[in-house]
Amino acid sequence: MNQDIRDVRICFVIPTYNEALNINPLLHRLTELYKDPDVAFLIVDDESPDGTADLVKEFMAGDSRVRLLQGKRRGLGDAYVRGMTYAIDTLGADVIVQMDADFSHDPAVAGRLLDHIAGGADVAIGSRYVAGGSLDSRWHVRRKLLSRWGNRLARWIGGLKGVSDCTAGFKAIRADKLREAKIGSIRARGYVFQVELLHRLIRCRARVVEEPIHFRDRKHGKTKLSMLNMIEFFFSILLLRLRSHLTFIKFSLTGVCGVFVNLGSFSLLLEFGLNKFIASPTAILVSIISNFLMNNHWTFGDRVMTGRKSVRGFKFIIVSLIALLLSYTVFIILSMLFPKVLPVLLQAAGIAPGALLNYYLNSRWTFREASREE
Ligand code: GDD
Ligand code: MN
Repeated sequence: MNQDIRDVRICFVIPTYNEALNINPLLHRLTELYKDPDVAFLIVDDESPDGTADLVKEFMAGDSRVRLLQGKRRGLGDAYVRGMTYAIDTLGADVIVQMDADFSHDPAVAGRLLDHIAGGADVAIGSRYVAGGSLDSRWHVRRKLLSRWGNRLARWIGGLKGVSDCTAGFKAIRADKLREAKIGSIRARGYVFQVELLHRLIRCRARVVEEPIHFRDRKHGKTKLSMLNMIEFFFSILLLRLRSHLTFIKFSLTGVCGVFVNLGSFSLLLEFGLNKFIASPTAILVSIISNFLMNNHWTFGDRVMTGRKSVRGFKFIIVSLIALLLSYTVFIILSMLFPKVLPVLLQAAGIAPGALLNYYLNSRWTFREASREE
């Protein structure tokens, strides 16, 4: 599958919004580093009021490999979809390199990403979160946390197993994989585009490698990451999961049934005159058993799992006990803090953390998929 990267058409796709201070030095650096006539540099500018597009046009006069695609501002994802589609369909690109215009991504490192593609990878990610990768220390703690947790959520909820930097904006990708992934139908507007793109590529069985990079904070201008982008991020990865992983829907339904079983048996036991501190763990236990049965036969029923059923049963008991302990602890603490509140409400409050822990441990351990690499 090895091929000489010099025989393929490479197109850098670089979205810009108000990058007047960066675009010139960036284009200088890129055209200097990558001199091959078959390399194109497509700037996707969305009517930046600071005149970024005019600067690109000036540069284009001196180097015909630089291209400009202009459009209305509909977010980073939209700009990438338009840019990549244009690069593949109109410019005939075989490999796309996506990167930011603000020097957060070192132009020289693109060569290393392309080497991975030449070596047979479909996707090469410039990754901050693999060994050897790093983040600018000037990044605010809040931004660091956001990025870390955004990544974790994408991995856990979005189902991007095995990738360390799921929100990376620095990647080299083979065009045929992008075509196969039908990027034209990606609806993500903001930064979550990166996650959705990767998700689709992985579903197309793309071979993904990660190259460690240092992510520098921008020197000029400011980030366009907005609150709206973050909200979109969260809901989009939830939707990704819902769309492609029926397991998640089934688990949620199982959970809802479990809540009814739990509260139903709790109320019933109270009716029979049982002490609430005994009724609580009993009801939790009953619901955990019903959840297990549903999960084993229905939710995770189609998983090829490791280990024997008896081992799974044993793991399940341990997970159940841990979840029960958590739910019960929450119930006891709340009962002491709010002795007058209806016990069934406190029992309900105890279910949530117990259920989450239950899913986490069961999904990753008890019903762990055979192929899972972690
Ligand atoms: N055309 C267009 N339209 N470009 C945009 C838009 C838009 O609506 N919004 C942002 N850009 C461009 C910026 O001009 C820049 O070149 C690039 O997209 C990244 O935007 P930044 O605002 O600099 O992003 P960041 O530094 O906060 O985020 C980086 O890290 C994220 C992960 O933490 C980027 O690499 C993201 O892609 C990445 O997801
Ligand atoms: Mn940036």
